Amino acid sequence: MRKLRADPLDLMQVHNLVDVDTHLDTLRDWKQAGRVRYVGITHYTAGAHQAIARLIAARPIDFVQINYSVGEREAEQRLLPLARERGVAVIVNRPFGGGALLGRLRDRSLPAWAAEIDCTSWAQLLLKFVVAHPAVTCAIPATSRVAHLRDNMAAGRGRLPDEDLRARIAAAAGQ
Ligand SMILES: NC(=O)c1ccc[n+]([C@@H]2O[C@H](COP(=O)([O-])OP(=O)(O)OC[C@H]3O[C@@H](n4cnc5c(N)ncnc54)[C@H](OP(=O)(O)O)[C@@H]3O)[C@@H](O)[C@H]2O)c1
Repeated sequence: MRKLRADPLDLMQVHNLVDVDTHLDTLRDWKQAGRVRYVGITHYTAGAHQAIARLIAARPIDFVQINYSVGEREAEQRLLPLARERGVAVIVNRPFGGGALLGRLRDRSLPAWAAEIDCTSWAQLLLKFVVAHPAVTCAIPATSRVAHLRDNMAAGRGRLPDEDLRARIAAAAGQ
């Protein structure tokens, strides 16, 4: 906490559901003691969504961090509606499917309708697809390049896609 210069910590997450019940007990105590404001759990594969849904229903969890993107849409079936219903915040990891999606799109020209939602790159379209889902709180794209960071940050501005445009992004990026 000293190194992070944060007291309390805003959010502490149990990574990849490792020994999750033990850690959630500890974090519940820390939250009660005022050391952390929010408690969460994370995973990065659809195979864990069922376990995450069970935990949301059984334990007091403020945040889930899960995989969701144009290429990994399983969370739409159950987990995202459940999180919304329960008021659980959703952080999305792998919004570019780990980068594979952007690799495929690199040489493809951007559709003209991207301008309707103020997007100038495929990365921005993929991020806006994710953050415009009504259950999603935020996305955490990773990059090692400042130019990509700037590109991704631009997805935090301008208009967001409605359902029709989200479907068009998914169709265009999935081809
Ligand atoms: N269990 C967990 O808690 C868990 C598991 C997985 C991931 N995560 C977290 O989720 C975050 C994202 O996950 P991720 O890194 O697996 O997947 P991601 O964000 O979907 O993809 C990252 C890849 O996209 C590329 N990229 C990023 N911005 C770009 C841009 N504007 N244009 C072109 N390429 C771009 C990056 O390459 P460059 O470096 O060249 O930009 C990198 O290869 C990470 O911060 C990670 O900590 C958490």
